[in-house]
Amino acid sequence: MLAERAVRGLLAQPQRPDAVVVTGDLANDDDPREYRMAREILGRLPMPVYIIPGNHDSAAGFASAFADFDYVPQAAAREKFYYSVRIGDLTLVALDSSVPGKPYGRVGDVQLEWLDKQLSDTSGPVLVAVHHPPVATGMQFMDTIGLKDADEFGAVIQRHPHVLRIMCGHVHRAVTASFAGSLVTIAPSTAHNSALNFAKDAPAHIHLEPTIYYLHVLTDDGALATHTAFAEMYPGPFPVQADEGVSWP
Ligand SMILES: [Fe+2]
Repeated sequence: MLAERAVRGLLAQPQRPDAVVVTGDLANDDDPREYRMAREILGRLPMPVYIIPGNHDSAAGFASAFADFDYVPQAAAREKFYYSVRIGDLTLVALDSSVPGKPYGRVGDVQLEWLDKQLSDTSGPVLVAVHHPPVATGMQFMDTIGLKDADEFGAVIQRHPHVLRIMCGHVHRAVTASFAGSLVTIAPSTAHNSALNFAKDAPAHIHLEPTIYYLHVLTDDGALATHTAFAEMYPGPFPVQADEGVSWP
């Protein structure tokens, strides 16, 4: 299974991240068997795993399969599945953009108010996770099912320059875009990816491309550097000859 491959690839990295964020659509049909499978695969990760709902998920599904994740029971008891946690020097603010029965997303006034307060009360760098991207990607069939209250969401983000990143899913492609004074990174899918086609009448096709995930690194200068990592193993590593005057370990 492709998600297993991503977990295996992550565990094979020379360094392990402090946490894993899964930006939604853990299930396809909101079926308990799918959540149990996702729970089993994600359970192989030794670090905390933070999940947010996508349009294919439900808080009830999360509550049944992930009740042992310490933030889940409280988040699932709310009218929407939102929460905030610390990851080292970072704060992760996780939002629920799912709209029952609909493919598009909406954050809604309650969460926007809560987000604004969370960001006001936090002084360090913040990552905001939300399944539906608040930006258009140029891929028509995905843009029609994006975040419907992106303007209202952007107005909150704009007030808080310490939001280093807005982490999204949904599109099944790796996309980066500026938004409201911050940066949106849409994670590629660990399953199929959307066919890259910007035609207005492009069909909703998928490609079976290599399994990719992002590695976000908080650097010493306070920037968040985002790396694309492949789950599959490729030949290497091979040594590289340093240029004159350059000293490498
Ligand atoms: Fe989605």
